Amino acid sequence: MAYETLIVEIEDHVATIKLNRPDALNALNTQLLGELADALADADGNDKVRCIILTGSAKAFAAGADIKEMSEKTFVEMFLSDFFGSETAAICRTRKPIIAAVAGYALGGGCELAMMCDFIIAADNAKFGQPEINLGVLAGIGGTQRLTRFVGKSKSMDMHLTGRFMEAEEAERAGLVSRVVPAKQLMEEAQAAAQKIAEKSQLAAMMVKEAVNRAYEVPLNEGLLFERRLFHSLFNTEDQAEGMAAFMEKRTAQFRDR
Ligand code: HXC
Repeated sequence: MAYETLIVEIEDHVATIKLNRPDALNALNTQLLGELADALADADGNDKVRCIILTGSAKAFAAGADIKEMSEKTFVEMFLSDFFGSETAAICRTRKPIIAAVAGYALGGGCELAMMCDFIIAADNAKFGQPEINLGVLAGIGGTQRLTRFVGKSKSMDMHLTGRFMEAEEAERAGLVSRVVPAKQLMEEAQAAAQKIAEKSQLAAMMVKEAVNRAYEVPLNEGLLFERRLFHSLFNTEDQAEGMAAFMEKRTAQFRDR
């Protein structure tokens, strides 16, 4: 499918979705988020895709929601349209693993979008922030909730109340990103990580995603039970038999998603 605000490439079982509004530092507008929801649903439904990378440009992953689109809106319009509610819900329904490869600015909705992905690999020039307070508003697509879970209350409050930016190194220290790499190697590292995931049993990879995400939704005992039942269920798959046989035979497993 052709998109106006995205560039999508599929290679070696990895779909790379590049946000593409360079004139606005990839600011998120209704069209872009709608197209992104569609592209992710397409990737989810495409048998050739086993992992997804979401990225932006060298200067900006995304500099936030599009302020020009929002500036004239009234409360009634925002509320009745549930602004960005359906698009972000659709993005979060993606079942295949998504890596955010972030270079440059990931601000406001851009930081929130990166946090909707399964993990973040940051270039050493990445800058994260929730500067909505400077516009007289606050985060609206998950920032107060997700950033707090990632980095804890104190740092989250600091980010949301002062609007300051966090450099990649601090973001890694705080647990917001899984690794920091030199900017020039960002896509190479993201591709390598995606490739590693693509080689696994897709059944196990998708269950990992469901189980880890449960940790945010349910009490510990419920999460532990959910994990244990998923673990048990994988013993009804050929991939479990193959994975364990391959280990014992000292060879690489050939997973077939069965
Ligand atoms: C619309 C944006 C934009 C945005 C940048 N641009 N961010 N347009 N919405 N969020 C546009 C600028 O207007 C400009 O267009 C072009 O991109 C380049 O930006 P500059 O400001 O000239 O670049 P620079 O000086 O390098 O500064 C980069 C920047 C700055 C620090 C990232 O652009 C900035 O502060 N942007 C806004 C960040 C922000 O407040 N984000 C939170 C948004 S609210 P022109 O046409 O003038 O050249 C939000 C709410 C989420 O995200 C919840 C939604 C429900």
